[in-house]
Parts: sequence; C-alpha cells; structure tokens
Amino acid sequence: MADSIIEINDVSKVYDNGVVGLQNVSLNVKKGEFLVIVGLSGAGKSTLLRALNRLNEITSGEIIIDGESITKAKGKKLREIRRSVAMIFQNFNLVKRSSVRRNVLSGRVGYYDSFRSTFGMWSKADKERSAEVLRRVNLLEKYYDRADALSGGQQQRVAIARALMQEPKIMLADEPTASLDPATSQVVMDDLQILNNDGITIVANLHSEALALQYATRIIGLAEGKLIFDKPVEQVTEADFDSVYGRTPKSVDTTKTSEQPTAGKTVEQAIELATEKNDEDAEVSVL
Ligand SMILES: Nc1ncnc2c1ncn2[C@@H]1O[C@H](COP(=O)(O)OP(=O)(O)OP(=O)(O)O)[C@@H](O)[C@H]1O
Ligand SMILES: [Mg+2]
Repeated sequence: MADSIIEINDVSKVYDNGVVGLQNVSLNVKKGEFLVIVGLSGAGKSTLLRALNRLNEITSGEIIIDGESITKAKGKKLREIRRSVAMIFQNFNLVKRSSVRRNVLSGRVGYYDSFRSTFGMWSKADKERSAEVLRRVNLLEKYYDRADALSGGQQQRVAIARALMQEPKIMLADEPTASLDPATSQVVMDDLQILNNDGITIVANLHSEALALQYATRIIGLAEGKLIFDKPVEQVTEADFDSVYGRTPKSVDTTKTSEQPTAGKTVEQAIELATEKNDEDAEVSVL
C-alpha cells in the first residue's frame, strides 16, 4: 500500500529452541501512526519489534520498510534501511561511563566507517546535530555530563536523542517507560509524541493500558505470537484488553473492589485521573 511505511506480511518466528515467537502476523503501519503493541509477557511484542529492524531474523513471511524488503536486503541496502529505523529500549542501553555527547554521537555510526567512528572522528555537521537533537529533548545542558550522572528519565531522553541522530523515519520503542516512575513516563512519552507530530512513525510496546490509550493512534494486541486485535484507539474497548490479558470481563468479575479511584469511571475519565495524579493504581484499574 502506498501510504504504508511498514508492511508485515504473514510473518512467523520460531526460535532455535522451538519456541514460537510470532505466528502468521500481518499488518500495515501507515506513515505518521503511533502504534502501540500490548500483550502479556511472552506474547511476542519484543519479537515483533526486533523483527522490524532485523535484530531478529524471521522464519517466514516478509517485512517491507518504506517500500523496500528488509527481509531480503543485504549489505549496503540493509544498512541503509536499518538507518531509517531507530530503536530505544527499556534499559536505555547507554554507555554509562561515557559522556552524553559521545552517547548521542554514537547514534550516527551507521553513517561512518568503523575506523572513523571508533576514534570519534565526527564531522562538524554531526557535532552540531548532536547538540540539536539534545535540545529537542530539552537536555542540552547535560551535553558534557557522564550518562550515569543522569536520572532514568533523562537517560531515556538521551537514548531518544541518540536514536534521532539516525534521522529515522520510524522509531521503535520497547517498553520505553518500564523502568520509570509515572511522572517521568509521561515526559518520555511526550517526547515520543513530539517526534510523532514531526512525522516520525512510532511503534511502541507498552505495559500500561492508560499510556497506550493516551498516546496511541492505533493499538494492536498480541497473545501467544498471534494478532488478537488491531484497531484505531477510539475503537479499542475494555473487552479488547481483556482478550489479550486473558482476564475475565469486568461485568462478571466481582473481585475488584470499588476502592480504586477510577472504579466506575469511563476510560477517558480514568486516563484523566491517572494523568492528573500520576497514580499507578489508577492506571492499573482503568480497565
Ligand atoms: N532469544 C530467544 N530464544 C528463545 N526464545 C525466545 C527468545 N526471545 C524470546 N523468546 C520467547 O519468545 C516468546 C516471545 O517473547 P518476547 O520477548 O517477544 O515477549 P514479550 O511480549 O516482549 O514479553 P515481555 O513483556 O516480557 O517483554 C516468549 O515465549 C519468549 O520466551
Ligand atoms: Mg518484551
């Protein structure tokens, strides 16, 4: 499809030990979407993300990135496609003993031969770019600090800045807020939102239903490697989340107490509450 930036065609992944990571998953992601993947631990969310930049090889099917098959690509073409797909992780993956500046510049390695990048022979334009991307995540004042002197939220924003050095069309985010408190999670998600507003397509795995509903334009649910639902956020219901999390629908679930601050609220009201109070309990009891 012309406006699809990612096409996932009948993709399956079986790990070497026989574990099935993905089963016949097909979906298209349009340019500019903010796609959130939800599902239980082990559902295949990371497997799917890692397939998109070929950190994981898939077993069958094909993935097309902006019109080019990353599945079939080799050598220079593969490197070129990979540059357009940046990724951030739950644990930030920064070189902690290095400066913020070096960490951010390392996001540019895909544009250099290994000799020049090993010795930090960055161009003037890239040094300027590194300051510019840090400014975009509001951390320019940390430019010369060591990465491990930063808070978790700041480290994740450095990781976003590093990813931006690739000038990506797509940003993959694997549980980007899982190590962060609710308030800091909002800041990091807001940064992703700003990038999305600038035209970068986002694909993120999230455990928080409230964050998924707040930021996604579209949500897909995975269970046991299979696509369970795929809907624009406005159409996602409580029953959709129940279906991927294997929960009993609330109408027959009498075990939930009414003490939860969001009990009896609509999804929109619950998100509002969760956002106002940065209350993790509120997130959990949204649905
Ligand atoms: N390298 C691997 N080798 C073998 N099996 C793996 C490997 N990585 C993941 N798996 C298995 O594949 C399945 C999907 O794992 P995946 O990491 O994609 O789940 P996930 O949805 O990201 O879970 P979580 O929410 O815990 O991160 C799980 O059963 C997992 O044990
Ligand atoms: Mg995972």
